[in-house]
Amino acid sequence: MRRVAILISGGGSNMMTLLRAMEEGDFPARAVLVLANNPDAGGLEKAAALGIPTAVVDHRPFGKDRAAFDAAVDAELRAADVDLVCLAGFMRILTPEFTAGWEGRMLNIHPSLLPLYKGLHTHQRAIEAGDAVHGCSVHLVTAALDDGPVLGQARVAILPDDTPETLAARVLVQEHRLYPAVLKRFASGDQTAIILE
Ligand code: GRF
Repeated sequence: MRRVAILISGGGSNMMTLLRAMEEGDFPARAVLVLANNPDAGGLEKAAALGIPTAVVDHRPFGKDRAAFDAAVDAELRAADVDLVCLAGFMRILTPEFTAGWEGRMLNIHPSLLPLYKGLHTHQRAIEAGDAVHGCSVHLVTAALDDGPVLGQARVAILPDDTPETLAARVLVQEHRLYPAVLKRFASGDQTAIILE
């Protein structure tokens, strides 16, 4: 049984789908920690309400000292005896030293069909490019941002009158299907990619 920590910065809708999925009897992992870099992250209260231990490592007091912030996060994960990390709307770029310590056992969900549109504003960029299809990806986290091996993708058609907001809402629905499916497969030791239509 894999021991999972979920890292969030905001409301945590992906976090909730992972927590709900891990309550299923045959799920090969269970959540042991939800950690946020933002003390006001709405997801903290939701996780606590489900009885999941929570922790906050506020990045602001660390200023530009990313290594010190990452070391504090790493200490929380080690203290909780975590062996698998899921980034779910965690809006901090992690240092290469930190990602090296969790290489091969840290996943992230990104709202684009990687390798397209790494970074921010993915929905707007896909619309501006005139793409017909967009979507989301779950990938292993490496030192390069949004660049690790893709473990799963879900595609979403872009509609003629789509705005970044309407597209983001439809992609989020697919994120909530994709992340639990990828985590279940990955935690059972299977790294073959999942493509959801
Ligand atoms: C999601 O769209 C995710 O892909 C991106 O940040 C958003 C977080 O949403 N990285 P939530 O906090 O899981 O609701």
